[in-house]
Amino acid sequence: MSQPKVFVTRKIVQAGIDRLQNEFDVEIWEDATPPSRDVLLEKIRGCHGVLTMLSEKVDEEFIEAAGDQLKVISQYAVGYNNIDVEAAKKRGIAVGNTPGVLTNATADMAFALLIAAARRLIEGDQYIHNGKWKSWEPLGHIGWDLEGKTVGIVGLGRIGETFAKRCYGGWGMKVLYSSRSPKPEAEQKLSAERVEFEELLERSDFVSVHCDMNEETKGMFNAAAFERMKNDAIFINTARGGIHVQPDLVQALKTGQIGAAGLDVTDPEPPSLNDEILQLSNCLIAPHIGSATTSTRNAMAEIAIDNLALGIDGKPLRCSVT
Ligand code: DGY
Repeated sequence: MSQPKVFVTRKIVQAGIDRLQNEFDVEIWEDATPPSRDVLLEKIRGCHGVLTMLSEKVDEEFIEAAGDQLKVISQYAVGYNNIDVEAAKKRGIAVGNTPGVLTNATADMAFALLIAAARRLIEGDQYIHNGKWKSWEPLGHIGWDLEGKTVGIVGLGRIGETFAKRCYGGWGMKVLYSSRSPKPEAEQKLSAERVEFEELLERSDFVSVHCDMNEETKGMFNAAAFERMKNDAIFINTARGGIHVQPDLVQALKTGQIGAAGLDVTDPEPPSLNDEILQLSNCLIAPHIGSATTSTRNAMAEIAIDNLALGIDGKPLRCSVT
C-alpha cells in the first residue's frame, strides 16, 4: 500500500526526519528560509498532511491548493496564529500543535532576556569586542537589580506561570498578572495577584508577555501602554512580535518612556536591517529561539509527527487546537 503524502515546510531535527521518512511519502523543504508562497502551494498539492512552521500562512487558499484529500495540518509550534483554524474546521481538517514540551525552554528564554537586559550584557559584550574596554569602570554599564522587584505577566498560561515560578521562587519577586481567567493555584503558590492590564503596566518593574496573539492581544503594547509603564521598566516579549506595536516600542525606548526591552520576537520577523529597533542599545533581540534546545525540539518533533500520523488515520490528535 502506498504511504500517505506529506510535505514538511522546513528541515527539523534528525530524529524527526528519520521518522518522517519511515512513515510517510515525505518531501522536506531543505532551504534555510521558507518556500515562497507559490512554491508552497505547489508543494502541498495532493498531500494528506502538512507539517507547518509559524512562518506559513495557512488559510482558505492553502487548504484549496492542497486538495480534498488533506486530513491534517500539524504545526511545529505551540502558537498557531498563522493558521485559520475555522477554515480548516469547516473542511474537517484536523489542526495540531505542540504544547507543554516547550514551556521550560521558553520561560528560560524570557528570564535570560530579562537578566541580560537588566544587566546590559549585550552592550557590555559589544563594548569589549569594539575595543572600548580600558579598565574597571566605577560608573560604567550600571543596570537594574532583580531581587524583590515587581514583575507583571501578561497571560498566565503554562509558559507565563513557569516564568512566574522562576521570578517568585528564585528572585523573590512580587508577581502581578493579567489573564482572561483567574488562576487560583498560582495565586496561592506564588502569591500572584490578578490585576487589570493598566494596573499591571503601572505597578511593574518588568513586564513580560506570555499570551497568545489574537484579535484582542494584537497590538496591545502600543504607545498608550508604554506610556503607562515606569520609565525604568523592562519589557520582555517571547510570545509574538505582533503583540507589540514595534514603532511605538522603538519610540518608548528612544525617549526613555521605558528603560529597556528584551525580545525573542519582532514584527516583522526578521526585522529589516534598517529597522530602527536594531540601532537601540537598550533593546536586545534574539532570533525567535525560545524553544531552541535539543530536547525541546526533539519533543516537538515527536508530537508534531504523532499529530500527522493520527490525523491522516482520521483519529483524534495527540494535541489538537480544534
Ligand atoms: C511556538 O512554539 O509558538 C514558538 O514561538 C516557536 O517554538
